[in-house]
Amino acid sequence: MDNILERETWKPAPMKSRKYTYQETLAAAQKINWRIEDIIGGDKKLNYTMPFMPESLARVERMTFLTPDERRTLNQIRGHAYLCVFGLVEEFILPFVMDHARPQLQGDDYRVRALLQFAGEEAKHIHLFKRFREEFQRDFGVQCAVIGPPDEIAKAILSHDPLAVALTILHIEWMTQRHYQDSVQGDQRLDPQFKSLLRHHWMEEAQHAKLDTLMVEALAEGRGAREIESAVVEYIDIGGFLDGGLRMQTQFDMESFMRASGRRLTDGEREEFMQVQHQANRWTYLGTGMTHPNFLATLESLRPEMRKRVEQIAPAFC
Ligand SMILES: [Fe+2]
Ligand SMILES: [Fe+2]
Repeated sequence: MDNILERETWKPAPMKSRKYTYQETLAAAQKINWRIEDIIGGDKKLNYTMPFMPESLARVERMTFLTPDERRTLNQIRGHAYLCVFGLVEEFILPFVMDHARPQLQGDDYRVRALLQFAGEEAKHIHLFKRFREEFQRDFGVQCAVIGPPDEIAKAILSHDPLAVALTILHIEWMTQRHYQDSVQGDQRLDPQFKSLLRHHWMEEAQHAKLDTLMVEALAEGRGAREIESAVVEYIDIGGFLDGGLRMQTQFDMESFMRASGRRLTDGEREEFMQVQHQANRWTYLGTGMTHPNFLATLESLRPEMRKRVEQIAPAFC
């Protein structure tokens, strides 16, 4: 494989996004600007009679061995895990964006301001997810375990090639777009506060996805085929690392579910729970990003073979 890559004459496409600019992205971000207090706290409370997560992500309705109330409880436990998983990923996005901005503070003023706005919004999102989690922990009645600690996970991910990390972040930004779109489809009635979280996150992540496309292009600039390929392989490795965490989170969610519902699952039911819910978690955090058309378009612009590689493995996470 290495020899083929050395011999071939393929050159990366010019790394200039025709779609996005720092100036336009900054202008769009400045128009949004919501506050955490507008979304949660005071009389804005989670409603535990309603599901939190879109069914396309939760996949609890297919677990017919659970009663409707038990499925709703599980959906809410998945919602709590969502707050924690996003808390985790935002913890490595924030330092990465700051490190990317830092060396060029004297350069393009729009670039500097757009990246600092991006970092500021991610710090706000970390705070937002924490605030929702505090509300949940206060009122749900059962403590739900989560994977971590976030700084250890961040350290493991940030030890990778910056282009691989930027691709992971791009994946996450486009994934968030899909999560909100899924929450407004169909006739499902979701808790208004949780839906508002997905909506407000989506509004700011739309700009992040564009900025991250520019970051990926900047980090890929001047790299040869082999370096691009190794970064994509590392992106796939990071996905595998996260998948191990999702399996563990599924186990935690099953234990939280049994405590919250008082239901003792049989061995067969536990097996089905793990199979359905691990795959649901894979789709929520891996498949929705890996198959997003805009993410795939960026991969294709780096190297068409890498788009194909990711498309080949994606079905395992859908
Ligand atoms: Fe975010
Ligand atoms: Fe983001």
